[in-house]
Amino acid sequence: MKKLLLIVLLLSVTYVYAEDGSRLWLRFSSNGNAQVTSNIKGATVDIAIRELRKQWIGAGIKLNLTRTKEVNTLGSDGYIINGNRQTGISISSCSETGLLYGAYYLLRWQQTGLGDEINVSESPRYNLRILNHWDNLDRTVERGYAGQSLWEWDNLPSAISPRYEAYARANASIGINGTVLNNVNASPKILSIDNLEKVKILADIFRPYGIKTYLSVNFSSPTELGGLSTSDPLNKDVHLWWKSKVKDIYKLIPDFGGFLVKANSEGLPGPQDFGRTHADGANMLADVLKPYKGIVMWRAFVYNPNDEDRAKQAYQEFVPLDGQFRDNVIIQVKNGPVDFQPREPFSPLFGALKRTSIMPEFQITQEYLGFSNHTAYLATMWKECLDSDTYQQGKGSTVARVTDGSIYPQKYTAIAGVANIGTDVNWCGHHLAQANWYAFGRLAWNHELTAEDIINEWITLTFGASESKANIQNLNPILSKLMLESREAVVTYMMPLGLHHIFAFGHHYGPEPWCDIPGARQDWMPKYYHKADVNGIGFDRSSKGSNAVSQYHSPLSEELDDPATCSDNIILWFHHLSWDYKMKSGRALWNELCYTYDSGVKQARFLQKLWDEVEPYIDAERFREVQSKFKIQTRDAVWWKDGCLLYFQEFSKQPIPYNIERSIHELDKMKSFQMRISNHEKADINQLYNK
Ligand code: GCU
Repeated sequence: MKKLLLIVLLLSVTYVYAEDGSRLWLRFSSNGNAQVTSNIKGATVDIAIRELRKQWIGAGIKLNLTRTKEVNTLGSDGYIINGNRQTGISISSCSETGLLYGAYYLLRWQQTGLGDEINVSESPRYNLRILNHWDNLDRTVERGYAGQSLWEWDNLPSAISPRYEAYARANASIGINGTVLNNVNASPKILSIDNLEKVKILADIFRPYGIKTYLSVNFSSPTELGGLSTSDPLNKDVHLWWKSKVKDIYKLIPDFGGFLVKANSEGLPGPQDFGRTHADGANMLADVLKPYKGIVMWRAFVYNPNDEDRAKQAYQEFVPLDGQFRDNVIIQVKNGPVDFQPREPFSPLFGALKRTSIMPEFQITQEYLGFSNHTAYLATMWKECLDSDTYQQGKGSTVARVTDGSIYPQKYTAIAGVANIGTDVNWCGHHLAQANWYAFGRLAWNHELTAEDIINEWITLTFGASESKANIQNLNPILSKLMLESREAVVTYMMPLGLHHIFAFGHHYGPEPWCDIPGARQDWMPKYYHKADVNGIGFDRSSKGSNAVSQYHSPLSEELDDPATCSDNIILWFHHLSWDYKMKSGRALWNELCYTYDSGVKQARFLQKLWDEVEPYIDAERFREVQSKFKIQTRDAVWWKDGCLLYFQEFSKQPIPYNIERSIHELDKMKSFQMRISNHEKADINQLYNK
């Protein structure tokens, strides 16, 4: 018996101290002792009470949660918190979810130790803060690098993973209030009754956490699933099919959020197959969802293999339709005009659609930024987009302000992030990638937060524990520097100076600027984008080229049009420049490219060193796991530099300056290397190095 007790004790100690990352940023103390009361009852407020009772430290201190109409002006998710840590604190909101968000705010405040007095009033900038899962019914995750899909379709609806609730809690703690469960490349089968019954179970678990459930739908579902002869949006039977499907959904899930649609994009069906427009397709779905207050998020990620510059196509398709969409349709626009590249200019659709609701789509999963092997803190990238000035309604018309309802009236304001979550114990495949999930939620709540504010908060919550304040004070400046510089480092060793889409065709992980597949779509080939030749490199999108610059508002269009004023960090996106073009640094372009790639490698090494510096301040488990990832990242940075410089040198025909690190790879070997992507797209990069 004694032996058994000892084993149980040992196991529980191991459990308490297992630093596997599974607790995310939710590592509050569990010795709560405050008195928590509320003037209402309900599933959501009960969670708020439970969280505070368990985790708020303050013997005898009263915490009151009050639902009151007085704070209606803050919207349904907003809250006011005031009081004093020593004497008592009250949270007021007009809704239960507002009280829950207030409770999480308070817990964050406790953990980040900001003083005794509290007096805050908060409300989110976007109404709908949504994760998009690219999860398939077979549990693979498109562009997912953290294991399988969380949704265990085979076990639902009967068996329920505890992770469902943990997922909902993590989202609620950062203000995320919607989830699209399945891939935008949607299987029509998601709408079968069997699957909808499974979706219902998930929706029931998420609801108390203030999270609405949405589904991606395939535009051909009436044909593929319903057996109709057409999916034409203007056909009466098609309309009736969707109407009855939506009725079934709401019978199961009365607060269902709505549909996300990828149509006429990358080979998927859509209204244009029937000679109809995106507006015809979106409005038909919007009309059937409207009685239930459901919405349609219609993606603007559309392009075809034709003579037109891919970067211009979404604008060309959607601007003529401005004003034709129902008020429960929101056009979902990727941050840049091509496809989540390490650096893109913002999509010119932002601000250009003036009578149509529009929402930004960011990619949290690192499809083009080193999967879950590289550290790339993405709040800096998203802020770059959100803070960009579109000038569409004068100076200050930032992407954030043209999408959050402050410049154009929108019935719904929204923002989406493609999730980086899977079944890995640490959820995201890399401990530091959790910061991107966190940052997405925090920015969706308040896009005015700085990337630095968010990372400092995240570090304290994720690595701090009340007994190790000194550690946090030491850790914070080092880790926050590392994180804040990380995305720029990745851009610099992968695709600097505005280069884009030069990744490998098969996996999007490593460099393949040479890739040329006979018969393949040209707009999927790197050469279409870098256009390197003996004369120079870059895509001419100036007024002398594809004129994509004209899709931006003055004075930005003129600024981008002239290489002398176009920012260097995006210059090859907009210009084809000769190898000896004199850059702002005074160097010739070829030398600049060499120095820039080389500095990217140095930056990667610097990040690696910074990580080693944090060793004394964090647990050994997470330290070692991340340390091994930095080894991969640094080796990959050299691979990118060598691959790109050796290949582009074939055109520039100039030497790599001697003070630049010599290459360690052979171009031919890199060209013949085919990376095997192991299960669920985790890159097994050792294949290259062990070859
Ligand atoms: C990228 C990505 C695809 C995805 C697509 C989309 O092209 O590689 O996997 O389906 O974006 O956003 O629809």
